[in-house]
This record gives sequence, C-alpha cells and structure tokens, in this order.
Amino acid sequence: MLRIAFINLKPGTGKTTSAVWLAYAFHRRGLSVALADADPGASALEWSDQVGGFPFKIGGLPVKDFHRRADDFATDVVIGDIPQIEDHAPIARSAIRWANFLVVPVAPTGIELDRMSPLGNVLEEMEDVMRPDSQTGVLLNRVVTGAASGPSARRVLTGQGYPVLTTAIPRLEVFAQSFGAEPERNTTYDQLATELLEKAGK
Ligand SMILES: Nc1ncnc2c1ncn2[C@@H]1O[C@H](COP(=O)(O)OP(=O)(O)O)[C@@H](O)[C@H]1O
Ligand SMILES: [Mg+2]
Repeated sequence: MLRIAFINLKPGTGKTTSAVWLAYAFHRRGLSVALADADPGASALEWSDQVGGFPFKIGGLPVKDFHRRADDFATDVVIGDIPQIEDHAPIARSAIRWANFLVVPVAPTGIELDRMSPLGNVLEEMEDVMRPDSQTGVLLNRVVTGAASGPSARRVLTGQGYPVLTTAIPRLEVFAQSFGAEPERNTTYDQLATELLEKAGK
C-alpha cells in the first residue's frame, strides 16, 4: 500500500486541492484509491458531495489514531488530506507516523519558504516514530511559469537539504477554481502520480 499524506504547518498551501487532483490521477490509471479526509474542516468531503461523490473511496478520519485506522481502506493507494499542524497537531502527528510519503506543498514565496524550517524541526523530532521507509517530498505549488521564483525556491530549499520533488504544480486558474468540480485529465498531477510511484518503488 502506498500511503501519501499532504502536510504543512499552515492552511492554504494546496493540500486539499493536491490530494483530490492526485486521487483522480491514480484512479484514472486504474489503481484503487481512497482519500482519507483527516481535516475537521472536511473540505475534501464537501468537494466530493458537490460532484455527486468521487469515483473512489472517501471517508472522514479527523482522529488522532489516524495511523491505526487509515489502512482500513485497503486500497492500493491511500491519500491523507491532513489538517495544518499548528491547529491540529495530534491528528497531523498521527498521519506523519502513518505515511510512506509525506508531501509538503509549498508556494515559492518568502512567507511559505520561511515556514519550512519549523516544519523540518517537527519531522526531525518525529523521525523515530515514522516508518523506516518514510520519504518526504516538497511539492512546489502555485509556481508562476517563466518567473524566477520557482527555480529560486527550488535552489534555496535544496541548498537547505530539503528533498524537492521534480514535479512542480503551476499556478493556474483551472486549479484555483477547481473546488467542487471534477478535475481535468492530463495535468501536472499525472506527472506527480508517476513520480511518487517511482520514488516509492511501486
Ligand atoms: N496550483 C494552484 N494554482 C492556483 N491556485 C491554487 C493552486 N493550488 C491551490 N490553489 C488555491 O489555493 C487555495 C488553498 O488551497 P487548498 O487546497 O484549499 O489548501 P489547504 O488544503 O492547504 O488549506 C485554494 O483557493 C485553491 O484553489
Ligand atoms: Mg485543506
């Protein structure tokens, strides 16, 4: 089972948007997928309601024993939409213990880059309780095509020792306006699905 958790200290970094688009990408290539909405705000569940139900499993799991319960979905891939650590530390910490792949969406802006160091501290402190095969990938998100900020953020984060995923999600209206709609096919999230499968050795 591939267990992917979208995490960050703060809300508004693209966790829910990425979790839903990625779940569709895996589903469309024939993998069985479940989306575990661990956010008490339940925005992924609300999104599913608005499209008349996602074509894969979705369940609310905003609980601090997430790590004991998320495998019950019993699918090839389980994606956790995890709430911001700063407000929901027990749930988020449980998800960090559970995941094989921690994906951290970050926009290439000063304020979001500054938050990487406290998040890095949380991950470092939790290393002993994480899965031995656990990997982390920073997902550059809301990257303006052609601007210097994306490549510059990649250099800065890589220089600080963070593993930055090759795939970067562009800042686009199609993503910004996607809440409550069915994601399009053939987008950067397909590349993200491929990269995560490759890195996880699946
Ligand atoms: N690639 C993107 N391009 C443009 N807007 C985006 C992109 N990804 C996310 N957004 C927008 O950013 C906002 C926060 O995203 P969301 O997924 O809700 O964050 P989180 O779940 O981390 O709180 C939303 O309005 C969303 O539409
Ligand atoms: Mg969210």
